[in-house]
Amino acid sequence: MVAIRGATTVAADTPDEIRGAVKELLNEIKAANHLSVQKVVCLMLSSTGDITSLYPAKAAREAGFADCPLFSSLEPPINGALRLCIRVMLLVDSDIDAVPVYLRGAKNLRRDITKRLVIALDGPAGSGKTTAAKNLAKQLNILYLDTGAMYRACALECVRRKIDLSDEDSVKQVMENIDLKIEYAEGRQITLLDGADVSEEIRRPEISQLASKVSAFGCVRRKMVEMQRRIAATMSCVMDGRDIGTNVLPNTEHKFYVTASVEVRAKRRFVEDKAKGYNVSYDNIVKDIRERDRRDSEREIAPLRCAEDAVVVDTSFMTPEETVEFIKNKIQEKI
Ligand code: DC
Repeated sequence: MVAIRGATTVAADTPDEIRGAVKELLNEIKAANHLSVQKVVCLMLSSTGDITSLYPAKAAREAGFADCPLFSSLEPPINGALRLCIRVMLLVDSDIDAVPVYLRGAKNLRRDITKRLVIALDGPAGSGKTTAAKNLAKQLNILYLDTGAMYRACALECVRRKIDLSDEDSVKQVMENIDLKIEYAEGRQITLLDGADVSEEIRRPEISQLASKVSAFGCVRRKMVEMQRRIAATMSCVMDGRDIGTNVLPNTEHKFYVTASVEVRAKRRFVEDKAKGYNVSYDNIVKDIRERDRRDSEREIAPLRCAEDAVVVDTSFMTPEETVEFIKNKIQEKI
């Protein structure tokens, strides 16, 4: 038997809001724990006193949990507690590693028994965030998800299908049929398109600009963000990108904005690209980085920006080891 915790909030005390929030929470718990309703032995819900228009347990029954005992209770009015909050505990006939789910700003009150760690690292190209994220994940022995690779794979698929990248309708069609998977082998992320490993191909310099272009489209972002949230809901991970702390995982406690001067970033990229045998010039890389920074931070949907509650890490004069140490210490302070 295992207990799975979760919580969510509603925007207002209305039956529809409560139905929607409870249904979403239970569906996310089911997905994150690969759970079938038949395995649920009983389901207990509690809510804050400002929820009066519908029993959350009734919403749970309507959401498909009709065959197990359900229980709703009222939480005491604790000073400073989150408003309009619904908590749940499911007892499940299984021996899985329970994955708790917290949505819509609801907080996990028992971190000591639910130790999932989700770390968001955002920043511009060449800031050192990917190196830091990889090393951090390795040291903490948790998964690393490079979200840039996902947008790069979308761009590569458009190139393969000879799509005009300024035509959103064509890109949308590509996104409807794209067969993109992320797998892990020997601790390394493998990006698969149509079942074939494209992890190297998506690193080509021309794909960088194209990834920045396709990532501005809502149809691309919606699909990628959904995949990213599913991964973060099921396991501890370090996720790096442009909008992780602001948009993909806005509720995570551990957010970092990794940055460095344009010149330092260009120099790093120049050394990396040369080592890979690409024929690049430093001046072109500076231009390329400025152009990508501009596009990534000026786009309408989920632009690159530092989340208000993120810790800024300027790596211009830091070694990769110092960067990871700094981030690790900041995480440690919170857990
Ligand atoms: O991190 P990278 O250079 O591999 O990312 C390639 C492009 O993908 C980047 O220019 C913008 C886009 N991207 C994004 O929009 N959101 C993310 N979370 C990650 C990358």
